[in-house]
Amino acid sequence: MMNIPLCIPNIDEEEISLVTDVLESGWLAHGPKTKEFESEFAKYMGVKYASSMNSCTSALQLTIEALGLEGEIIVPSFTFSASANSIINAGCKVVFGEIDYETCNIDPGKIEELITDKTVGIMPVHFAGQSCNMDEIMEIARRHDLAVIEDSAETIGGEYGGKKVGTFGIGCYSFFPTKNMTTGEGGMITTDDDEIAGKINVLKAHGMSSSTYEREKKERPWLRASIEAGYNFRMCDVLSAIGIVQLKKLDKMNDLRREHASYLNKYLGDIEAIETPVEIDKAKHVYQMYTIKLDTRKISRTNFISKLRKDGIGANVHFDPPVHIQPFYQSLGWKKGDLPVTEKVSESIVTLPMYPQLRKSELDHIIDGVKKAVG
Ligand SMILES: Cc1ncc(COP(=O)(O)O)c(C=O)c1O
Repeated sequence: MMNIPLCIPNIDEEEISLVTDVLESGWLAHGPKTKEFESEFAKYMGVKYASSMNSCTSALQLTIEALGLEGEIIVPSFTFSASANSIINAGCKVVFGEIDYETCNIDPGKIEELITDKTVGIMPVHFAGQSCNMDEIMEIARRHDLAVIEDSAETIGGEYGGKKVGTFGIGCYSFFPTKNMTTGEGGMITTDDDEIAGKINVLKAHGMSSSTYEREKKERPWLRASIEAGYNFRMCDVLSAIGIVQLKKLDKMNDLRREHASYLNKYLGDIEAIETPVEIDKAKHVYQMYTIKLDTRKISRTNFISKLRKDGIGANVHFDPPVHIQPFYQSLGWKKGDLPVTEKVSESIVTLPMYPQLRKSELDHIIDGVKKAVG
């Protein structure tokens, strides 16, 4: 029987060889490979600075802290809990915004009604590989003088109006193995702002004004200046080596995701009980996930997914329950019914396998499996 997991990281000889070089080099911590990865990532995104992190969750929290934000931040609830958690952990208050049904991204038309005199930022989350409507979001942010922290964990290499997702505000990216590119665990922040980049680099490395690698080249490498009570959110050279190779392959991997998605759309598009994903006009969708919506008035999602799984198709759900009705957020006063569109999408969404290496026979197996499962 075919076994098609939800995703498989795309690792070749080149990643293995560069990791081996680092392991044999005698320098494993953040160092020359991390610098190279950051500089290549900044070049790819077309920004001045890229600062590597140990995760996107750290990246989001650190960005809020480096910006010095204190107050309310608007974020969708239809996301992974890390988006909202980072706001709490940075000492701010979460205000959940509603999503647009079609794209599952935050609905810009419903942001302004949430803005109060305490609002300090918006955190758009680019869901599953597709950019939010950044024209409208940036316009609202400008009008109300709000920071924009883009949670681009799921959309590395995606574009809006020809511009890379994550470069409108401050961009935060994830290199978890399910993402468009991976380092195992890891993240990145991108910005053009000299001052913010400086603060991020200090805060992520124990609040010190120089790195271990830089100090090693100095006459008195033991002299450290702790100018903040910082964290250790650093990436290391072993993982950066994977990132350097993955970044070189990113566009090719995303092109394959787009080809697979258009093949699935073509053959799943006319099944009445499901809705295939929609690419909005200005966006280049990079399908970190391929999600469909199921008509759950006609078909039980649990049965649908268990039929697919029995057929070796690793379907899953992202995200249900949405964050606002997770136990912690309910304890803050959020409840079912607060975000009807989010809740409706959460109840009907299904994630099908998506990764660059999928073969035509596997795509056909997914299509046949879905057809069988809807009856
Ligand atoms: C939208 C979103 N934000 C944040 C994260 C957290 O990223 P990380 O696992 O790198 O901390 C994830 C997924 O893992 C995510 O999907």
